Amino acid sequence: MAKRDVAVLISGSGSNLQALIDAVAADPDHPARIRLVISNRPGVKGLDRAAAAGIEAIVIEHKHFHDRAGFDAALDAALRARGIELVCLAGFMRILTAPFVEAWTGRMLNIHPSLLPAFKGAHAIDDALAAGVRVTGVTVHYVVPEMDAGPIVIQAAVPVQPTDDAASLARRIHTAEHRIYPAALRWAAAGHVSLGDDGRTRYSGPAVAVNAVLISPPAIG
Ligand code: GAR
Repeated sequence: MAKRDVAVLISGSGSNLQALIDAVAADPDHPARIRLVISNRPGVKGLDRAAAAGIEAIVIEHKHFHDRAGFDAALDAALRARGIELVCLAGFMRILTAPFVEAWTGRMLNIHPSLLPAFKGAHAIDDALAAGVRVTGVTVHYVVPEMDAGPIVIQAAVPVQPTDDAASLARRIHTAEHRIYPAALRWAAAGHVSLGDDGRTRYSGPAVAVNAVLISPPAIG
């Protein structure tokens, strides 16, 4: 089967990009090929990761555009010029316009550092700490015009320790992200997951076992 051409959109470090690159590189039969990386910020580490992997990496700076529509049109043109079929947002910290999102409906995934619908927005890790939850997590979802509200593809629960600060929780969150995003990309590229006309995520392929419950903290004293 032909590989699906994928673009990854980033704004920063790109550790999720790296996890996707590594997963694709590890499997010669992987259903995806990462063809393009776009950053809206110059000089970020994710661009170096793309270059090191031999992937075309371009910068489209949002600040060079008068409005969101102009920026999104440039993104769209770059994606279409390369025949991109699937877009992965990986730490891409720009709100996308509804026309752009609708043009890519069912073909654009995002990763978010919480168990959505809890803690939407740009400060999910800090917000989870402030709320005092003992379990948070990570979510990959289809992108819809409403921010962080799209149909969920995969989630992982992450315990919050009473001693956690933002840095320690972020490390645990990232470990979980680096497991679930490659899984979601593989399923989406293989057609094992898709967005139905009813706006719900559809799964096909082999059934998977259900994990045991997560209890956090597991014990005290
Ligand atoms: C990730 O934790 C991702 O979930 C988050 O940004 C980080 C990017 O890390 N995204 C959001 O908060 C989107 N609202 P990375 O650049 O190392 O992949």
